[in-house]
Formats: sequence, structure tokens, C-alpha cells
Amino acid sequence: MKTEVAIIGGGPSGLLLSQLLNKAGVATVVLERASRDHVLSRIRAGVLEAGTVQMLHEAGVADRMDKEGLRHEGCYLSDDDLMVRINFKELTGTTVMVYGQTEVTSDLYHAQDAIGATIIHCIEDVVIHDADSDAPYVEYTVDGARRRLDCAYVAGCDGFHGVSRKTIPTDKRREFERVYPFGWLGVLSRTRPAHEELIYANSSNGFALASMRSETLSRYYVQVPLTDTVEEWSDERFWTTLKSCLPSEVAATMQTGQSIEKSIAPLRSFVSEPLRWGRLFLVGDAAHIVPPTGAKGLNLAVSDVHYLYQALIDAVKKGDTAGIDTYSERALLRIWKAMRFSWQMTTMLHQFDGEDSFAAQMRKSTLQHLSQSETARRDLAENYIGLPY
Ligand code: APR
Ligand code: PHB
Repeated sequence: MKTEVAIIGGGPSGLLLSQLLNKAGVATVVLERASRDHVLSRIRAGVLEAGTVQMLHEAGVADRMDKEGLRHEGCYLSDDDLMVRINFKELTGTTVMVYGQTEVTSDLYHAQDAIGATIIHCIEDVVIHDADSDAPYVEYTVDGARRRLDCAYVAGCDGFHGVSRKTIPTDKRREFERVYPFGWLGVLSRTRPAHEELIYANSSNGFALASMRSETLSRYYVQVPLTDTVEEWSDERFWTTLKSCLPSEVAATMQTGQSIEKSIAPLRSFVSEPLRWGRLFLVGDAAHIVPPTGAKGLNLAVSDVHYLYQALIDAVKKGDTAGIDTYSERALLRIWKAMRFSWQMTTMLHQFDGEDSFAAQMRKSTLQHLSQSETARRDLAENYIGLPY
């Protein structure tokens, strides 16, 4: 088989890139390890920056989001009972969209089907060959048979555990990493959200986040030690802990119910540089991971696609390589800013094991400062709604 751009991974990065390239007449083949059902069963974050919303419009996959997504003009940060509203609309003139990543992915699959894009699921043992030559190719196994896909370029959109990043020789790249000593226990429940906007809660009992998917579907998280397992967390224990972290007026009125999904995710900051090796380009989680505290994971993947897709169109259609030559540099500038913001939000809101009493006071004082300084709130709002591309 032959194509112009081989895309490894059919998560949001791979599908969005494929959609934008197909729309411009550039041929792609998406190779995805999992089944479509598996990809669509993964519950991930749900806050879209205005730039992400714009990109989904550009890709022609925004109809359902426009109808069902919730536009949020602000969010709250709390410290025990102190609630600080960050008014995005007033401070930055723009809003964010609450719409689950799973829904974005589903919309992308439908759009890809509608334009007849090639997505091959349940493939194994992907190997990228000769990425540093003019004639790269990808080998993979499907239904027990080894196949070969020749291409002009390879987009590595296969997430943190994929093969693309590891294809780049270790002496040609550099990794930066911070692993946090806690995870997030997430629960989805068919309950009315605790509040009409998200609440990122710092408290003497640890961090919690009250989020949502719709007016009848809530998504909550609490900070847990990395050694905890989901089995140790009954629904009852979860609700009690969550309420102990949220402001008491919110906890008092919140609706609880049976969980319909429960999982623990570790928190990590990670970047691998550069994002290009010859004709291979890394996109999204394949190149970088942020802790979820700033809701930047999906949004960063989308901004990578923003920088890459036009560059690939120019390279394929006009032989103009200026865009692909600067992709890594341009995308990394924005990636590092989101890394900083996510790290700062994580540090500002979580209890670290064995921390001294000074650390807790610093968090309290940061929240106090935010409550009193519009400048501080504007800085947070600018980063949260998404820095310009
Ligand atoms: N071969 C083919 N596909 C692979 C391989 C492989 N060796 N390894 C992983 N994949 C697939 C995974 O099954 C997954 O569907 O690649 C896809 C990667 O998707 P994501 O992990 O969702 O990464 P990405 O598309 O970059 O999405 C951005 O930002 O922070 C996050 O939660 C956020 O997942 C979101 C991400
Ligand atoms: C979510 O709704 O799952 C969510 C929202 C905001 C975050 C992280 C996760 O920062």
C-alpha cells in the first residue's frame, strides 16, 4: 500500500490530522492498535480552548459540539471555603467549551467515515523504517499478515506508550520529565453537577476537581497516593472524601449517586525534543504529557496539529518544506508554556506527601492573592483559555 502521510495512532491527534489533510486532498492512512470501541470507551478530559474549538470547526467536525457542548465563561479555584472565580469572559474576552474528549474522538471518526478515509484498527507490531531517508515506510501486522505501507511522511500520533518517539535514536533526542507523587482518582456519575462551573479545590484534605460532561453527567476527581487501587475506593468513600475537599456550601447541596466509571491516573510532566526526525513528526501525547490540572493535554495535541497540518500540505502539494522545517521549534514554544502552566496549577493545588507546613501556607497565600488581584486572575485566565498559536 502507498499513501502520502502514514499516521500512527487513531486518537484525537491522529484523527484530526488525518481529517484536515484529507480535506485538503492529501492522502493518509491511520494505523490504530486498538479497536474503535476501545478507543471510544476511554474517558478523558473535557475542556476545550477557543483555539481547539476553532480547529474543530476548520476540520468540519463541530456541529454536535456546537449543539451539545457547554460554553463556560469562568471557573473557580477554592481553598477550603474561599472560592475565587476566574472570569474568563471579562478577563480575556473569550470562553472555553466543556465537551468530552471521547465525544470529540467519536465526531472525528464519523467525519473520517463520511469522507472515506482509511483507518485500519487492531494492528500490531508497527515498525517505522528509514524515517531519516527520502523513502520511509511502515510495517505492521493485521489479521496475522505482515503489511508494508510506503509514504512520504510519517506522523507519530500514538500517545505516550507508542513506538514513534522510540524510533528516534536516543542520541538524537532529549527527554525532560517530572513525575508527581500522587494520582487522580476519577469518577463519572449520572448526577447533577455540583456547581454550574468547574471547581479546582485546594483543601487541608488534598486536591479535588468538580467537573461535568452535561447537565446530568458529572465528572469528579480527588488526589490519591500512587499506591492506591480503584478497589480500595468504594463510592461511599469517594463521595465522603470529595465533599471534605470542596467548599462546604457546595458539598452540602451536591447530588451523589452510583459511579459509572472509576479509574486512577498518575500525574506526569514530560517532553521529548525535538518533534522531528527526518520525515517523522511527533504529535500530541507521543511527544509530551501534562498533568491534567490545567486541562491542557488534548488542547496541546490540537495545537501541534495546527502547526503541522498546513506544513505537511505545503510539503506534499508544493514541495515547500519551510513549514515542516520549523514545526518542532514552533510547536515546542507553545508546549513549554503549557508545561509551565500545568506544573504551576498542579503545585498550587495539591498536597505533597511529607511536605512542610510552609508549603501549605504558600498554597493558601497564592489563593488569597488570586482572590485579591485581578492581574493574577488575568494571568491564570489567559493561560487557561489557551495562549495564542
Ligand atoms: N501502534 C498504533 N497505534 C498505537 C500504538 C502503536 N504502537 N501505540 C498506541 N497507539 C494508539 C493508542 O491506542 C491511541 O488510540 O495511539 C492512540 C494515541 O491516542 P492518545 O493517547 O489519546 O494520544 P493523542 O491522540 O495524542 O491525544 C491527545 O492528550 O493528554 C491527552 O487525554 C489527552 O489522550 C489525549 C491526548
Ligand atoms: C474533566 O472534566 O475530566 C477535566 C476537566 C478539567 C481538568 C481535568 C479534567 O483540568
